[in-house]
Amino acid sequence: MSTLIAINCGGEYSPTKEKASSRGGLSPLLHRRWRTLLVGAKYKLFLLLFLFTWLCFLSSKIPSLMGWNPHYPSSVSHPSRGGYTVVINTLKRNTLLKQSVAHYASCNGTDAIHVVWSETDPPSQMLKDYLRKVVLKKSKAGHKPNFRFDLNKEDNLNNRFKPIQDLRTDAIFSVDDDVIVPCRTLDFAFTVWQTAPLTMVGFVPRMHWPYEEKNGLFHHRYGGWWPVWWKGTYNMVLSKAAFFHKKYLDLYTNKMPSPIHDYVSRERNCEDIAMSLLVANATGAPPIWVKGKIYEIGSSGISSLKSQSDKRNKCTNDLISIFGTMPLVSTNVKVVDATRHEWFW
Ligand SMILES: *[C@@H]1O[C@H](CO)[C@@H](O)[C@H](O)[C@H]1NC(C)=O
Ligand SMILES: *[C@@H]1O[C@H](CO)[C@@H](O)[C@H](O)[C@H]1NC(C)=O
Repeated sequence: MSTLIAINCGGEYSPTKEKASSRGGLSPLLHRRWRTLLVGAKYKLFLLLFLFTWLCFLSSKIPSLMGWNPHYPSSVSHPSRGGYTVVINTLKRNTLLKQSVAHYASCNGTDAIHVVWSETDPPSQMLKDYLRKVVLKKSKAGHKPNFRFDLNKEDNLNNRFKPIQDLRTDAIFSVDDDVIVPCRTLDFAFTVWQTAPLTMVGFVPRMHWPYEEKNGLFHHRYGGWWPVWWKGTYNMVLSKAAFFHKKYLDLYTNKMPSPIHDYVSRERNCEDIAMSLLVANATGAPPIWVKGKIYEIGSSGISSLKSQSDKRNKCTNDLISIFGTMPLVSTNVKVVDATRHEWFW
């Protein structure tokens, strides 16, 4: 538009002018106008650019101007410091074991992987070689977790809590061979554990509560996933996927009343409830549930749920009566990763 006006202002058509312009370019007047126009445009452009840059700069500075300096927990930026020992409990499921060893070897926080082996025959040389190779292949450069089998001759669920010689970390991540926790989720739960190293920190919350029968006797009822989800309250996290301090291995094996060991090995179940009682008795505090998706590979699912819940009910009652007290403390705290932006805060 402005160009048009400028040309119109140049005056009416004349052959001389046309000649002049074809020879020496624009007439001096037109030339001057063009220059002012261009300089003006340049100036505006420059101003706009400057404003834009300034805005960009400001918006990038807002967090620090407001004092929102991002703070990353040291274990995340330096996972080599500290770290955790992954203790995988397995029984005759080598395919699952291969998958979970490969997965946990790939996590930065994994300092070592111990496989609790509870069969009469030791693992075959082939399996050992295979798993060693997998650990080397899957782990990141400059980070090679130790790998070891902890051999036990008999199938006994107390084995999974046996003290481990020459551990390099205080943190134990106890996990079943069919449970996969993504590395990012695992590292996050580890940072939670570091803030409360005497507490059990895990992904599978359970609840049980006193329940009065008609005859006035009290019992304890074990609540699976649904009651926890419904009420939002829990007082255990299961050792199928949980962090705890290595000192609890010693406490479990050497300080726990031996009738509890006997019960667990006889029933082939409920070692996780026993561990929850032990930790709660030692801390007088509830465990911590960390929100995060975990994957159960190769689980057959629902079929065993009903008998399972009856068995767990009975276990809970029996273990509490052997233990002599009911130390579990309920809570409804759930820890979420605040850097994961979600629509619902
Ligand atoms: C592990 O560390 C490496 C290098 O330090 C990094 O590139 C990678 O993203 C980390 N992975 C996880 C899962 O934290
Ligand atoms: C339970 O706690 C009490 C009191 O702190 C302690 O004396 C007892 O040894 C604990 N029981 C176990 C099995 O650790």
